This record gives sequence, C-alpha cells and structure tokens, in this order.
Amino acid sequence: MPQKPVLIAQISDLHIKPPGSLAYGRVDTAAALERCVAALNEFAPKPDLVVISGDLADTPTIEEYEHLKRLLHSLKLPFVGIPGNHDSRELMRAAFPRAPYAFSTGPLNQKAEADGLDLLLLDSSVRGKPHGELEAVTLQWLEATLAAAPNRPALLFLHHPPFQAGIWHMDRQNLLNAGELASIVRRHPRVQLIATGHVHRATLTMLAGVPVTICPAPNHAVDLDLAQLREPSFKVEPPAFHLHCWFPDEGFGRVVTHQVPIGVFDGPHLFFGPDGKLL
Ligand SMILES: [Fe+2]
Repeated sequence: MPQKPVLIAQISDLHIKPPGSLAYGRVDTAAALERCVAALNEFAPKPDLVVISGDLADTPTIEEYEHLKRLLHSLKLPFVGIPGNHDSRELMRAAFPRAPYAFSTGPLNQKAEADGLDLLLLDSSVRGKPHGELEAVTLQWLEATLAAAPNRPALLFLHHPPFQAGIWHMDRQNLLNAGELASIVRRHPRVQLIATGHVHRATLTMLAGVPVTICPAPNHAVDLDLAQLREPSFKVEPPAFHLHCWFPDEGFGRVVTHQVPIGVFDGPHLFFGPDGKLL
C-alpha cells in the first residue's frame, strides 16, 4: 500500500474588498472566496494545509483584512499566507499575529512543516510597488533554512513569478531578482517546487531545474494576451486552486500538482456497469 501523500492546497490572489464592493466594479471577490472555501472544505481527503500565496486584500485596508478573516472563518483547514503586491506587511501581521513569522519586523517569511515536507514561504512584496523582489534578509534566511535540513524535501512559495510568462504588462512586474533565487535553488537540491501567484492563471515553467507554477485564482484571470492586442485586461474564467501532492517516495519524493476547478459540476459518473463493461 503506497504511503498517503501530503496534500498542500494553494489558493491565490483573493483580492478581498470591503463588504459590498466589487473589484474593478465588476468581480465579487468575496463570493468567489466563499465558493473556494466550500470547495476546500468538501475536498476529500482533507488537505493538510492551505497556502494563500498573496494578494489577500486589495487596496489594502484594515477593513479588507477584517472582511477576509470573516470569510476565512468558515475554512475548516489550517492555513498560512504570504503578502502580494496588494497587501501590507504591517496590516497582515496585525490581522494574523499568530503566524510563524521568521522575523519580528520586515518581511513575513515563514516556515511550515507537513509530515516530512518543509514549506518555505517567502515575502516578495515591495512596499508601494507592483513588482516583486526578495530582500537580502529573505535570501539569507532562505539559504540558511534550506541548509539546516539538507535531506528534507522543500516547496517554496512566493507571490511573484520568477519568470516572464509572455503577458507584457505582468512581465514587467514579476520577481525582479529571480537570478538570486535561482542561485540558491541550484545549491539546494531539496527544493522540489516553486509555487507562485500574481497572474491569476495556471502556468508552468522551470527555474534552476525545478518546476515553477502559477496558481489560478478563485475570481478573475489576467487576460492571456500573448499578442499584445489590448491594454491590461482581465477575464472571468473558470475559477480553480492548486493541490500539490507530495508522495514520500525514494530520495526527495515526488510532487504532483493538480488543478482543481471550483464549482458544482455534473458527475462523478461510473465508467463501467456492474458487468464490467463500459457504459
Ligand atoms: Fe499580485
């Protein structure tokens, strides 16, 4: 019997506004989060942890974080969050004071453990700017934390993708010092996945020999405008979250990422009848 995988659900870019407000005058991000929370609560088997990879609030304000906390109150799973460019470190720290922050001030880096797996959450936010950058203290913390347990597999989470996805207006606000992150990842083969957000759509590439994902959002998606036809735009596409499953295999094990759509869908229906024949 194979060992049970560790399940890490990742949700991203919640953009919670004050109650009653729509994002960009159009998207009910609170209702989208409610549907996302319902999907997480219903998922079997229960995920071990939920990581929220940035842009929890929108403007941000205390009122938005209060609204977010009320919405997350119905989540029946433990969660950790890191800031995105729409967040405030200070307001997030005040809203979630009991999170395992690595430092008492500055970036909200955190380390979480789930069975044999380390999750290192990196704060890539830059005050008042849409792009991301890992500060020197964050890079030092990452290097030291990875070096402290070289035999444990680790997943890295940060808001800003360390690559250009081909969407011009997002590419200029990605992680600006991706090269420094790549150098650290190359020195630590225990890094199995780098999981990000910010672009609100499922995307996959590699960095330093490690898969890098962007998690879709529960609300709206950045328009996949690879032809540069439009000004920065969004579309309300099918909402989803990511489920990173770590199987404790040989060596550092094996990470498999599933995209889980949020909503009510027809099925599941059986493939085969009682006679074993395809229906
Ligand atoms: Fe963002």
